[in-house]
Amino acid sequence: MTTHALRSRNWFGPRTLDGLMHRAYLRAEGFSDLVFDGRPVIGIANSWSELTHCNAHLRQVAEAVKRGVWSAGGFPLEFPTISLGEILMKPTTMLFRNLMAMDVEECIRAYPLDAVVLLSGCDKTTPAMLMGAASADLPAIMVTGGPMLRGKWRTEELGSGTDARRLWAERRAGRITDEELCEVEACLSRSSGHCMVMGTASTMASMAEALGMTLPGNAAIPAPDSRRLALAELSGRRAVELAQGGGPRPSEILTAKAFDNAISSDMAIGGSTNAIIHLVALAGRAGVPLPLARFDELSRSTPLLVDCKPSGKYLMEDFFYAGGLPVVLKELLPLLHGDALAVNGRTLGDNVRDARCWNQDVIRPLGMPLAQEGGTVILSGNLCPDGAVLKQSAASPHLLVHRGRAVAFESHEDLARRIDDPGLAIDETSVLVLKHAGPKGAPGMPEWGAAPIPTRLLKQGVKDMVRISDARMSGTSYGTVILHVAPEAAVGGPLALVRDGDEIELDVPKRSLTLRVADAEIARRRAAWTPPVPHFTGGYGRIYLDHVLQANEGCDFDVLRGRRPVRAEESARPTHL
Ligand code: FES
Repeated sequence: MTTHALRSRNWFGPRTLDGLMHRAYLRAEGFSDLVFDGRPVIGIANSWSELTHCNAHLRQVAEAVKRGVWSAGGFPLEFPTISLGEILMKPTTMLFRNLMAMDVEECIRAYPLDAVVLLSGCDKTTPAMLMGAASADLPAIMVTGGPMLRGKWRTEELGSGTDARRLWAERRAGRITDEELCEVEACLSRSSGHCMVMGTASTMASMAEALGMTLPGNAAIPAPDSRRLALAELSGRRAVELAQGGGPRPSEILTAKAFDNAISSDMAIGGSTNAIIHLVALAGRAGVPLPLARFDELSRSTPLLVDCKPSGKYLMEDFFYAGGLPVVLKELLPLLHGDALAVNGRTLGDNVRDARCWNQDVIRPLGMPLAQEGGTVILSGNLCPDGAVLKQSAASPHLLVHRGRAVAFESHEDLARRIDDPGLAIDETSVLVLKHAGPKGAPGMPEWGAAPIPTRLLKQGVKDMVRISDARMSGTSYGTVILHVAPEAAVGGPLALVRDGDEIELDVPKRSLTLRVADAEIARRRAAWTPPVPHFTGGYGRIYLDHVLQANEGCDFDVLRGRRPVRAEESARPTHL
């Protein structure tokens, strides 16, 4: 049995019944036999969906990719993947990130592809596609959909979820009306694209670029900007070269150096806390050990350079006009591994050396940072033995060292029911604790971490409180919110044992989170703890519960970690005899 350098030849090359079937049935789409002349087949994995508004323009992006593939002598074939829309999907897209990664990996493996272009946009679609591609290890290049244009209400600029949440809090406090909120609804999302703050989608697009999996400059180009389509076209052309050259493959790009570069970039842009979970999961696929401690090491040595919401004041459009991620990477070069390989075949250093900053208020020079440390820190202590995460750049400085009494909620439903109860003993010094919102507990670890401030306190002008949970937080959220507490409450982590009135101490400079309750009392509570009833007994939910890992391990499935590279000889087996 002959194998070929191009996998697709195993489908379309043989003069056998199998080859005849493959060619004949694909010709039902109207292709001439020229497409079977030995040119590389480039898959375009498209997470387009009208249910995922952030990705709803990706059909147009795919057309631009196809232009590039055809013009470089390849044969493009677009295929759909499942799509994870942050706004509409319940209970949470995070429940399905690994399912999407499996979809991408297995489609790459099963179809006659020589390289793949990954089209993503909304939060989880980017890490899911990268995870699938990393496991399959076929040459791959990513094109993200790009951020929306800035929102604008009257004279005020609006940033996706960040200002939606802020104005909703204003409405709860009675400072704006329903009619005004209705106007805001029409102004918030005024173009195609994903959230245009430095939320999870923008952060993960930046991570893909910093890792080297996109062409330089991809992350920040606004979705409706014609330059995004031009970049998509160039990415299609590059995919043909990747197929012809057999790489570089994801395994040659997603190295320990690349992850260091991505983490440092995440710290410098004030990226979403979700990036930590996704980078850990992706590193697990790539076979790169990535403990949470590495994030904290790099956070301490990487300054915050980008002034974007929700940490700062600008939006992704401003970030793009200032020069985008290449400028950040250029500033950070002394702290990065400049020799890391990118998908265009050049090193990261070569890719960004000529980048120019056009607005130093948006992207600060390394010597004039917004803060000496990075945006996100890792906490440890007896309340989070396996770690917790806080976005210090989006927290209130006066709460970074804080002691307060716990007000504990057993679940999201409990919180929703009691948070505005006039009888709830809570003030601005209290520490709001939400349990059973983690990977297994919620399930799916929804973005419930930025729990609402009680209306009574909002009306008194309280804008932030220390909040702790095993949940995640939207990348567009802000506040002194401690997330990803591991182990989670549902598996018996110490969070499950917190009771009203317990004293909790947060000390961000010391990176500590402490439940100030005697060990003997904690042991007594643990002995009385019983696990909650599982949410699922069958279906995908059961698979999820049986295999999902904790937050500090990236919430991947245990059985999906690592690489399972596609092998040409596998695809040489006939389908039809
Ligand atoms: Fe898709 Fe925010 S809703 S990125």
